[in-house]
Amino acid sequence: MRRTLAAVGSFVTLLGALALLAGCGGGGATNPSDPHVAMGGHLFVQFACASCHGMQGKGGVSTDVPTLTDVGKTLTVAQLSSIINHGLGESANPQKPYMPVWGPVISTSQVDDLVAYLQAGLPKVRDATPIPVARDQGAAVAGAALYVRYGCINCHGPSGLGGVPNPLSEDKTIPSLSGQDFRQEFNTDEKITEMIRSGSVIGKPPITSMPHWGGIIPDDDLAALVAYLKTLK
Ligand code: HEC
Ligand code: HEC
Repeated sequence: MRRTLAAVGSFVTLLGALALLAGCGGGGATNPSDPHVAMGGHLFVQFACASCHGMQGKGGVSTDVPTLTDVGKTLTVAQLSSIINHGLGESANPQKPYMPVWGPVISTSQVDDLVAYLQAGLPKVRDATPIPVARDQGAAVAGAALYVRYGCINCHGPSGLGGVPNPLSEDKTIPSLSGQDFRQEFNTDEKITEMIRSGSVIGKPPITSMPHWGGIIPDDDLAALVAYLKTLK
């Protein structure tokens, strides 16, 4: 009995040690002591900065998107805030990525936290990781995760319900990706795919437009997004 308990004891200790290792390990992720930097790290994933600029802004996604590792030193707080609010990039050429205009969607405090994160040198932040995408459960399942991963949900809302304010645009809101009107206008896979790939610029910032994802979202991810959108009400 004693022996069993001791064995159980050491097993528990082992589990504890493993848990501790996993906790500290987490792929070498740190836990910034500044909550603004930590929040910035999470927002960097939520607003799809990581989808275009790579995790920790290290690049590697597209040659048209710069790394961000040095921007904290080369750009001022005002410049960084303005880039996040107004976007940047090739707005006329749909073949090239066009950084989204996040201004109408993102709050001042969120912009401040993102800037704090960039200035801190984009450290790894524990649990600030894009949600996993199941690739072996059908296109629509993958598409649902990609809808979050590419930040579509921030602008088009959960389940594509829309309603996110875009006050200076003609429609005053970012359109829904569900409902009869959407389905009537976007009645083929090609139309939806083309819209996601090439975007649609409806005005200058601070109006937010549909960003160009040209060269960023691979074809099978585009197909998965379309499959997901077709499951919506
Ligand atoms: C759809 C892709 C895309 C997304 C999403 C995106 N960016 Fe960008 N970003 C770009 C492109 C493209 C450029 C380069 C534009 C240019 O130089 O013409 C850029 C440039 C920048 C720059 C200026 C870099 C420099 O060296 O001048 C900063 C800072 C930046 N992005 C931050 C962010 C942050 C923060 C987010 C998330 C809130 C974000 N980006 C999301 C595509 C993207
Ligand atoms: C920064 C905000 C923003 C993000 C992020 C965004 N969109 Fe959009 N999207 C828009 C706006 C604004 C329009 C309206 C464009 C227009 O009226 O021509 C739009 C239009 C669309 C349309 C056509 C709907 C219509 O009725 O015109 C589709 C489809 C679409 N987006 C899909 C997506 C998908 C999929 C993603 C993620 C990969 C995404 N969007 C990310 C802002 C955004």
